[in-house]
Amino acid sequence: MEVNQPVSDEEIAELVAPDRDIAVAVGEPLVELTELTVQFGGLTALDHVTFDIKRGEILGLIGPNGAGKTTCFNAMTGVYKPSHGTVTMEGKSLVGKKKHAITRAGVARTFQNIRLFGEMTALENVVVGLDARHRTSVPGAIFRTPRHIREERESIDRGMALLEFVGIADKATSPSRSLPYGYQRRLEIARALATDPKLLCLDEPAAGFNPAEKEELMELIRQIRTDGYTVLLIEHDMKLVMGVTDRIVVLEFGRKIADDIPTKIQQDPAVIAAYLGVEDDDDGVA
Ligand SMILES: Nc1ncnc2c1ncn2[C@@H]1O[C@H](COP(=O)(O)OP(=O)(O)O)[C@@H](O)[C@H]1O
Ligand SMILES: [Mg+2]
Repeated sequence: MEVNQPVSDEEIAELVAPDRDIAVAVGEPLVELTELTVQFGGLTALDHVTFDIKRGEILGLIGPNGAGKTTCFNAMTGVYKPSHGTVTMEGKSLVGKKKHAITRAGVARTFQNIRLFGEMTALENVVVGLDARHRTSVPGAIFRTPRHIREERESIDRGMALLEFVGIADKATSPSRSLPYGYQRRLEIARALATDPKLLCLDEPAAGFNPAEKEELMELIRQIRTDGYTVLLIEHDMKLVMGVTDRIVVLEFGRKIADDIPTKIQQDPAVIAAYLGVEDDDDGVA
């Protein structure tokens, strides 16, 4: 693939977020979960969980290991079918829709365990996400119609802009499996953004990072919000989410135990109790 580096920040911003037209005003609920319940046999992994995600906010979803955070993402993105409850986006139900339909509706996610196409380059991994939006037919792709060539050009430009945005454009043509771990995490974010989501769901994007890398990632998440995306951030480490989120929902054993601004969450006795005595990766609640 021929690669054109975008030049200015404005150009990058325009390519990353081309005139995104979102029906919901900033501060209005974009996504609403009502009594969402997921069961695995006898285990209730998510138990009547109700919260909303407001357009333009960074919402933290935290809780000890096994609390149901990933299950919540899976129920929102069509991986698991909830046994009870609703998920709506701009008032329309997402429950029962296929994964690709939910992507098209505007929900993108990254995975707790990185999922990339290892043999493909970083740029190709992002272009795959962009392709979900294109209309070119298979004959169009084979015979390289002008429309197909134009779309391919646009995909490459936008893919490069996204790599630039997440800070890994220098490795655009490297196979993704050869990238340093931190680059792979950022590439996952670029690929999710390629689907042009309204809501970006990040499942423990800082897992395995040192404190400096975590701080850089938080800065990227702030930038993503500044660019107009709404972010749902799963994080196991409560301290980490304090500096970046506007609001935090806390799960414990599948139930919502708190929903408040970070400073209130930090002092919430139920939240402190949930985290006390829980083995943590590198640091505790205090
Ligand atoms: N596919 C599954 N089958 C059976 N149990 C599951 C499955 N996925 C998650 N669970 C269980 O549901 C609970 C919540 O898991 P999960 O959502 O992964 O927690 P978290 O992401 O908060 O660490 C755990 O007890 C987990 O073992
Ligand atoms: Mg998880």
